[in-house]
Amino acid sequence: MTEKNSNYDREIDIYNRTFDVDLDEDIKLINGDCFDKINAIDEKSIDLVLTDPPYWHKKSPGKPYSERTQSNTSSRFANSKLYNQDCEMMKKMSDFTNIEIWSFLDEIKRVMKIMNAYIFCNETQLPYYCMWSEKNKLMFSVLVWEKPLSIINKNRFSQNTEYIIRIYDYGTALRKSNPSDFYGRVFHDKPVRDKSHPTEKPLSICEKIINLSSNIGDVILDPFMGSGTTGVAAIKNKRKFIGMEIDERFFFIAKRKIEERTCQLSLF
Ligand SMILES: C[S@@+](CC[C@H](N)C(=O)[O-])C[C@H]1O[C@@H](n2cnc3c(N)ncnc32)[C@H](O)[C@@H]1O
Repeated sequence: MTEKNSNYDREIDIYNRTFDVDLDEDIKLINGDCFDKINAIDEKSIDLVLTDPPYWHKKSPGKPYSERTQSNTSSRFANSKLYNQDCEMMKKMSDFTNIEIWSFLDEIKRVMKIMNAYIFCNETQLPYYCMWSEKNKLMFSVLVWEKPLSIINKNRFSQNTEYIIRIYDYGTALRKSNPSDFYGRVFHDKPVRDKSHPTEKPLSICEKIINLSSNIGDVILDPFMGSGTTGVAAIKNKRKFIGMEIDERFFFIAKRKIEERTCQLSLF
């Protein structure tokens, strides 16, 4: 990593309300819609994608968030303070359907040197990720993040898991420090406390994936960076990082967290 540049090389596009911030030559943060911004990334330039796009909640509790109002659902979440304060954000974060999944994957495939992408997703989305992989003759593994049970549902299986689909091609074997090590498909970790994003993911899971699937100096892309967890994990482990985030508030939270981590590293 090079030393942090105090005068950020910043381009501000007032009309599109997007900001590109190069924290240094190894870290590029982009505030904007990744479906537009990813076009500017060169073909075959990215080593690893680790990302957490919005989920698709079509089954629960019946209508997508974009069609819901407070009065037409009794869901505690949809009536919560968070939902009502952040309604617009929740719409963006809850309707990532097969259409978005497939066009996002087409772009990811274009920019990757060899396909090697880890994508957080929910059960509704899993079949669509698998279908795309099959169609593109790629392999996939479904990894599970198992959380401690917090909400008990007595009539159905309680929801204590989230998923990470790994879509990959030949030439992406795990990089282990000891050849006899092996890794199961389940991560056990608690949800993040004191979150700076409603769906913030555990740093330890991101670090484990980055260390197993990339080398020092590799370029990691997160087109849906939220509060920047992938970026922090990448920088902590001496990787380069490109992050995109559409929501200005989260973009600046991510920028702050990544800057803090860069400063801490430059002290040592
Ligand atoms: C599930 S959250 C990611 C949370 C992140 N893993 C963390 O630990 O903070 C998904 C993020 O994608 C952003 N987003 C949604 N659509 C986007 C788009 N088209 N381009 C860029 N960001 C987008 C949302 O604003 C949200 O912050």
